[in-house]
Amino acid sequence: MNKVSVAVLGASGMIGQRFVQMLEGHPYFEISGLFASERSAGKTIGDVLKVRDHKYMSSTMEMPIEKLTPKAVSRSCRIAFSGLPTELAKSVEQDLAEAGLAVFSNASAHRMREDVPIMIPEVNADHFAVVMSQPTYDDGGFIVTNANCSSTGIAAPLKALDDAFGLKFVTVSTYQALSGAGYPGVPSLDIMGNVIPYIGGEEEKMEIELHKMLGSVDKGRIRNADFTMLANCARVPVVDGHLESLVVRMEKTPSLEQLSESLSTFKGEPQRLSLPSAPIDPIIVRNEPDRPQPALDVLAGEPERARGMAVVVGRLRRKDDHFKLFVLSHNTLRGGAGGSILNAELAVAKGLI
Ligand SMILES: NC(=O)c1ccc[n+]([C@@H]2O[C@H](COP(=O)([O-])OP(=O)(O)OC[C@H]3O[C@@H](n4cnc5c(N)ncnc54)[C@H](OP(=O)(O)O)[C@@H]3O)[C@@H](O)[C@H]2O)c1
Repeated sequence: MNKVSVAVLGASGMIGQRFVQMLEGHPYFEISGLFASERSAGKTIGDVLKVRDHKYMSSTMEMPIEKLTPKAVSRSCRIAFSGLPTELAKSVEQDLAEAGLAVFSNASAHRMREDVPIMIPEVNADHFAVVMSQPTYDDGGFIVTNANCSSTGIAAPLKALDDAFGLKFVTVSTYQALSGAGYPGVPSLDIMGNVIPYIGGEEEKMEIELHKMLGSVDKGRIRNADFTMLANCARVPVVDGHLESLVVRMEKTPSLEQLSESLSTFKGEPQRLSLPSAPIDPIIVRNEPDRPQPALDVLAGEPERARGMAVVVGRLRRKDDHFKLFVLSHNTLRGGAGGSILNAELAVAKGLI
């Protein structure tokens, strides 16, 4: 197959560089342009390197970054992968959709539009249907978003539990990594040896986005799921990997074994279609008393291309009709660039691109 030409917007940032990492040697996509602000224009990826745990190919390190303008992006690319700040994403992503590009975005700017899905293909591949009501769709342009990184981590486990037992009530407390705040993010003197129990807008996003993501499609529109969701969010001094503690109650009360099995056997459309960045097991259940941990589990997922794309669940416990568990996910891979790339792979597999 001829590879699809893609652009990375925000290529000098945390998410942008994870896009570049996951696009190296990609079977469907090839990078035709890297874009950022005029601060980075004329520099190479090697000049502005932020990701420390991936060895980029030397040809990647030498790739030049251009100043972002919608015209420059649309000149040679069919897809734009966006790691732009929200304020900028709103107009740029819309301009690109109007120019006929498929935009896969990490920003929150368009997430709550009725005709824009917040996609995680394991959870809501059917939400792609609403894209067809976007005014630009007939000319090839559309916008698909992925969720905020803390919502993404728990979406697949909550979907597995909802399908099997019917979710009624969820509380989540997060321990969120520094890379979730972008680069350079939180000042080091504020976070070294500390925990900050506030991330602006995060709790509100989690409480809204998950209802849309777990909703169903009815007559071309998303009908939000109906359960109670309460979130408390904190920033902790970890580089990558959001750990989240959940307490859930469901319509049916399973045994712990049934709960564990519903999570470990969960699969979605990316697994059925064998998409290149899909983890074989999207949810990995660990039984040790002290897992999951960011230091040990953040890069979970097989095959190699899906490293960091599985979520790891552990410490399943029951107290009467409530269940307690921890979930860990990689915020810039599964919760960021990797999520958008999986969405684009699904679009190719479904013939939308
Ligand atoms: N980090 C996460 O875990 C995560 C997860 C999910 C979603 N997100 C979302 O993804 C987006 C990117 O986050 P990030 O963490 O990668 O942020 P970041 O590290 O701060 O990167 C921001 C990028 O945007 C570029 N940019 C800023 N102003 C620009 C302008 N005026 N014109 C062109 N480019 C401009 C920056 O370029 P310069 O370097 O040239 O300034 C940089 O490449 C945000 O909307 C964020 O909310 C982040």
